[in-house]
Amino acid sequence: MSKVDLSVVLAGVRLKNPIVVASGTFGFGREYGQFYDLSELGGICCKGLTLHRREGNPPPRIAETPMGILNSVGLQNPGVDAFIEYELPELRKHDLAVIANISGSTPEEYGIMCEKLSEAGVDMIEVNISCPNVKAGGLAYGTKPELAAEVTAVAKAHAGTVPVMVKLSPNVTDITEIARAVADAGADALSLINTLRGMRIDVNTRRPILKMNTGGLSGPAVLPVAVRMVWEVSCAVPGLPILGMGGVAKGEDAAQLMLAGASAVAVGTACFADPYAPVKVRDELAELAAEQGLARAADLTGGVRPW
Ligand SMILES: Cc1cc2nc3c(=O)[nH]c(=O)nc-3n(C[C@H](O)[C@H](O)[C@H](O)COP(=O)(O)O)c2cc1C
Repeated sequence: MSKVDLSVVLAGVRLKNPIVVASGTFGFGREYGQFYDLSELGGICCKGLTLHRREGNPPPRIAETPMGILNSVGLQNPGVDAFIEYELPELRKHDLAVIANISGSTPEEYGIMCEKLSEAGVDMIEVNISCPNVKAGGLAYGTKPELAAEVTAVAKAHAGTVPVMVKLSPNVTDITEIARAVADAGADALSLINTLRGMRIDVNTRRPILKMNTGGLSGPAVLPVAVRMVWEVSCAVPGLPILGMGGVAKGEDAAQLMLAGASAVAVGTACFADPYAPVKVRDELAELAAEQGLARAADLTGGVRPW
């Protein structure tokens, strides 16, 4: 079988293979690093950081669903300064792109974090706009084009030369509207999808399973939604690189997202069932590309054929 070149470029950052791990499903890599060398991965989207440390939401905050999970973890993290001091140096011991994922409750908070992280030398900043904006009365940034654009512009203005990738929420009527607004505001790349809001109820206690009532759905159940949204966004903002994610558990899933327009793919919830999932997805993707006679995995990107 011929050897496929797995390297891809995402917003100017070279990844040795297209497989990244999704924010919030891989921590800062410490636990998974006991199973294999993190250099096997193209990159890591770190757990979502906030300006100050957060405890997250009260349990229960994870619930299983058919083909996925619901979570309401709520951005538990040590804060951006602790990440820079303790986690980034550890990650730097491995050969993989370090993508810092950030969440703020005001545009100013996003700006401060971007400045700190660009000075610390991360490879890319992923801006999570699924969080509520306290100034706009709790409305999520990712649901209104003007708010999404404002955060993107502030992040860009404070990130120096570090590429800014904006992570889109699927909980909107038209994701292309947000994608266009964020692209016009200067985003270097887009990542999608974040989790879909869902709910489960215990029929005996008649209480919601999650303490927060609702949570974000992820895992294989969301893959078709992710493929559809990556395809729509890649058609709406051609040329803007996309990191695709949502339900990837096999090489074929990653290939679908790449054919829909993604330059690279993140594996999230699948890591909980099998820590080796990202490495397996990488190998299966390489095999699929070789079987199709491709010289480069990057040749899959945007390759979906019209009917
Ligand atoms: C437990 C959990 C925590 C998450 N935390 C974050 C986070 O901190 N920031 C973020 O942008 N996305 C977060 N996500 C969303 C994932 O990065 C990803 O977008 C989503 O789960 C879809 O991919 P998957 O189906 O492969 O998990 C989280 C997902 C899960 C399951």
